[in-house]
Amino acid sequence: MGRPQLSRKPATYRVRDARAKDAAAFLGLVEALADFEKLDPPDAAARRRLRRDAFGVRPRIHVLLAETSRGEAAAYAIYFFTYSSFLAKPTLYLEDLFVHPDHRRRRVADLVMRRLAAIAKREGCGRMEWVVLDWNKGAQAFYERLGARHLHDWFTYRLDHRGIARLSK
Ligand SMILES: CC(C)(COP(=O)(O)OP(=O)(O)OC[C@H]1O[C@@H](n2cnc3c(N)ncnc32)[C@H](O)[C@@H]1OP(=O)(O)O)[C@@H](O)C(=O)NCCC(=O)NCCS
Repeated sequence: MGRPQLSRKPATYRVRDARAKDAAAFLGLVEALADFEKLDPPDAAARRRLRRDAFGVRPRIHVLLAETSRGEAAAYAIYFFTYSSFLAKPTLYLEDLFVHPDHRRRRVADLVMRRLAAIAKREGCGRMEWVVLDWNKGAQAFYERLGARHLHDWFTYRLDHRGIARLSK
């Protein structure tokens, strides 16, 4: 018989690409992030699109999962690539990063960001970029500790589906 595990042993985590069989765990974490950001969670149709766009025949997003040694999903990140014409290099764009509240302050997000940086390096990216809500001081502190800078001189613009419909007529 093996030695019993000490209950106080700190959890260990690994980060890996999510696969189709992780869809339920992934969608559960997306819902938890929407709740945290006080936004509407994806409805049934949006959940189907997320599944397709992550795991379908033509993926539009990459998904990383962090899990415990028992296979419990603790965090996820969605990323994809944009492009900087001036650098003439791809940019790794981080769309979502979320650590389940039960697993916070255990360096899980740190592990995920390190993996993302390794991917950015492997893909020859000149930058990694993302946006943070103005009230989310915890995430801002986390990112600044990694050496990321808040860009004060750029404004984010958005055309919603109504704007797209109008402009495309
Ligand atoms: C922000 C978030 C991703 C951090 O994840 P985490 O796994 O808890 O972070 P880590 O344990 O890797 O943190 C590493 C260090 O970053 C800093 N940090 C992390 N969270 C922090 C917080 N809420 N406030 C201040 N500093 C923080 C600390 O220096 C921490 O080291 P310490 O615990 O030894 O003090 C997580 O709190 C989260 O998912 N929040 C909700 C969703 C969110 O805000 N996502 C980002 C949207 S842009």
